[in-house]
Amino acid sequence: MRVYHLGAECYPVAKVGGLADVVGALPKYQCQAGLQAAVVLPYYNRQFVREHQFDVVFVASTLLGHRRFDFEILKERDNALGFELYLIRAPGLLDRENVYSYPDETEQFIAYQLAFLDWINWSQQTPDIIHCHDHHAGLIPFLLYHSVIYKRLKHVPTVFTIHNGQYHGAFGWDKVGYLPEIDMTVGGLLDWNGGINPLAAAVKCCSKFTTVSPSYLEELKVQSNGLEHLFEMEEGRGVGVLNGIDSQVWDPANDAMIAAKFSAKKIDPGKAQNKLALCERFGLSPDKPLISFIGRLVTEKGADLLPEAVSRSLNELGDQLNILVLGTGDIYIQDELRHLLDAHPNVYNAYLGYDEKLSHLIYSGSDFLLMPSRVEPCGLNQLYALRYGTVPIVRSTGGLKDSVIDFEQPDGYGIRFEEASVDDICVAVKRAVELYQNTAQLELLRKRMMGLDFSWDQSAGQYIQLYQSLIPKL
Ligand code: ADP
Ligand code: GLC
Repeated sequence: MRVYHLGAECYPVAKVGGLADVVGALPKYQCQAGLQAAVVLPYYNRQFVREHQFDVVFVASTLLGHRRFDFEILKERDNALGFELYLIRAPGLLDRENVYSYPDETEQFIAYQLAFLDWINWSQQTPDIIHCHDHHAGLIPFLLYHSVIYKRLKHVPTVFTIHNGQYHGAFGWDKVGYLPEIDMTVGGLLDWNGGINPLAAAVKCCSKFTTVSPSYLEELKVQSNGLEHLFEMEEGRGVGVLNGIDSQVWDPANDAMIAAKFSAKKIDPGKAQNKLALCERFGLSPDKPLISFIGRLVTEKGADLLPEAVSRSLNELGDQLNILVLGTGDIYIQDELRHLLDAHPNVYNAYLGYDEKLSHLIYSGSDFLLMPSRVEPCGLNQLYALRYGTVPIVRSTGGLKDSVIDFEQPDGYGIRFEEASVDDICVAVKRAVELYQNTAQLELLRKRMMGLDFSWDQSAGQYIQLYQSLIPKL
């Protein structure tokens, strides 16, 4: 079965967040299961491509409205990532310093999708499935279905996975000319608030859509930035599949990015040595519990609550704990987190930037990982924390709800709280500090967490079943 995955990110080639981790891992597991899974990404720049070797396998030019652009398809030579990786190079359109946030993002991602479709169309390929991730690839299901020039591919089944339903990639009708000729008799583009909405178009036109956790499928019906009605109407075509993790990349027994290796069988001294390394680097106290946060500093992640929650917890608990933040995002939140440094030396620190290697050390060296998310379609951080024996403290939402059981429940291992509020975070932090005092219980929970299997082995099969249900039987 030949599957193409399309999305804006793929670890380790281009990563901003969890989307990259999923697009960089799911295809690998699918290939191990016997599928021919490939990923097609924009070529952003040399730095993103790093040490891989590529061959040009296709060269063409196509139209973005009235603008003709040249593009090349590059294929990674050695299948080093465990799947075929293709990059679309289109100088002046797809080459960028960063993945997102350009004023011409609409043109950027339409060009990406058109180049992909032209390539497979002109090279006479007929994949079994095209799997699109988030709105950056959301026009593909629509174009396959409605556009005159891709008629040959009209019956290729498409799966659309929603990693983040808050972002839609919407643009005005003034840009409709960037799309190729549309067969209006099949329905045409739907108008969403006076514009074109790639996320909505994908949900409407794909063969099946998925969300990255079962709870998030439900939540989209009440919170999806104006598409709630659509998700209610289309409920029957959606499936929630909890993400997995790449247990080869995230493996404390075999992780070159941490200070000391460890496993479920022998947690210490390895885990303790990672904590020591982390505390030394950030001037923290290794004998106190260490609660960390890793993530984008945005309200979606509840990061705006952090500054007050940090200072209140440290004040109320008399500095009985350490708090460490790794994140980048909202400048206002960054400033507030920076201002706290002077008030709480030796028990609080923050690295306000992006550092993949440091994230591994934090997952392995922390006692707890805090995720006060307002919205969390799946969340991978809690799954990495579990793998590294770090107790997740999570707000009960989306994938956090689907993957973390409170330690006071049967078979539980994490700490859960209900509201995205400073009060609830502080209560959860207090529970964590109390739990830390109970060494025997903490040890038991660590063993339990590290024995769980949240790898793609568990969920990759659900996607394969879904694909099989969509491929027309011969
Ligand atoms: P999202 O994709 O919404 O940001 P996820 O929990 O799915 O959230 O995934 C976040 C990913 O990005 C994880 O791999 C996490 O370790 C990583 N990450 C987030 N912020 C940083 C940072 N500042 N430095 C290093 N890694 C980070
Ligand atoms: C998105 C979501 C996150 C999810 C990730 C991977 O970025 O915000 O919750 O884990 O995609 O699916």
